[in-house]
Amino acid sequence: MTNPSSVTTKTGDASGRGSVSGYKVNFPARMRGYTESEINAVVEVMRNAEAQTQGAYLRQFEADFKAYTGARHAFGVDNATNALRLASILCGLGPGDEVIIPGYTFCATAIPFGASGAHIVWADMDPATWGINPEDIERKITPRTKALVVVHLLGMPVDMPAILEIAGRHHLRVVEDCAQAPGAAINGQKVGTFGDFGCFSFHGAKQITTLGEGGALTVRSDEDAALVPGLRHNGVRPFSGERPRYWVPAMSNVDLDLEGVWPNNFSLGEAQAALGSELLKTLDQSNEVLIAQAARLRAAFADVPELQVVDIPGGYRHVFHQFVMHYDGAASGRTRDDLLDFLTQEAGIRAIVQYHPLYRYPLFQKLGAGEQNCPVLEGWWDNSFSLPWWIGMPDETLDYLVASVKAGVAALKG
Ligand SMILES: Cc1ncc(COP(=O)(O)O)c(C=O)c1O
Repeated sequence: MTNPSSVTTKTGDASGRGSVSGYKVNFPARMRGYTESEINAVVEVMRNAEAQTQGAYLRQFEADFKAYTGARHAFGVDNATNALRLASILCGLGPGDEVIIPGYTFCATAIPFGASGAHIVWADMDPATWGINPEDIERKITPRTKALVVVHLLGMPVDMPAILEIAGRHHLRVVEDCAQAPGAAINGQKVGTFGDFGCFSFHGAKQITTLGEGGALTVRSDEDAALVPGLRHNGVRPFSGERPRYWVPAMSNVDLDLEGVWPNNFSLGEAQAALGSELLKTLDQSNEVLIAQAARLRAAFADVPELQVVDIPGGYRHVFHQFVMHYDGAASGRTRDDLLDFLTQEAGIRAIVQYHPLYRYPLFQKLGAGEQNCPVLEGWWDNSFSLPWWIGMPDETLDYLVASVKAGVAALKG
């Protein structure tokens, strides 16, 4: 393998995607391009929609998202962070409460809950499934615990039956962060329909993206769902009853939905909603492509004892938003970083470490959430990495990844 001559590194590259040149295999800026029918869905709104926001396309998207997920209620929002923020508001979290959140996830899972004033208690991971460990949740529940946040990270469902059982016994609210897992399921039941709330992202790096930003909130109870439209759109609603003059006292009313809670604007625009409806039509197909890519890699790495991939329990549909692996080079005194050096310098593959355990970041430490008791995550994380990944990777690229990682592992063994 040759050392690519033009590899460049940028310390300021926070996205990890598409912005670094010179690699043979890199993370692209997005997981796939748009089809003509998806482009036309946006153009159609530009040409013909009566409203640009709060209109017929949003209503249609919400109906489509409900039908796709099987959720009782679904709301389009501007991003998953704000879907999580709505969930934290509806959980009634505030100072004095505790919320249990996995230490292994993207920062946006935790920020809205920290912002509520509740104290974040970090949960450890299950070393087999890499999801939140239900037994560790149980250990960390106190009389102050009010909610559990779980994340179907990388596209892999967490053990929702076990989590619902614990939540039921302790009367806790359950929020599912489904940002990376649209279409993931357990025995046919889609994620986002188990807990009280499901929070989905259509950010630019996700399986489906509504022009870079977008999200959805699924809601189980009618009571919670009744509060979402006002909280999502500045408390705006129609006046009740007949009005002899439509302009008196004003176009619409503004009222309080939840005692002491100011509403906000978390709306999804019409063009994004129209595109969302179109993207849902091929989401299963895209997920199948990712699942097949992952199967090819998993089979190819099965004979390398130093490499581990996630165990997928029977009945779980893992949709592989990312392909993460774990390298154990301890026997030859080697680390994950040695392997990534090899991949970068010898193979031109820009593998990455996506995020740290959240309690290690300055933001959480400075805001009082730096304490942790997650020994499994501590031991596991520093040896994990992500391979470049997108929807529709050619077989030759996948095979090049396999050959390069295997060559790296062999070279490090000496
Ligand atoms: C696990 C997880 N949660 C939440 C988010 C936040 O999503 P958004 O960018 O739509 O706010 C993301 C992705 O960006 C994510 O990966």
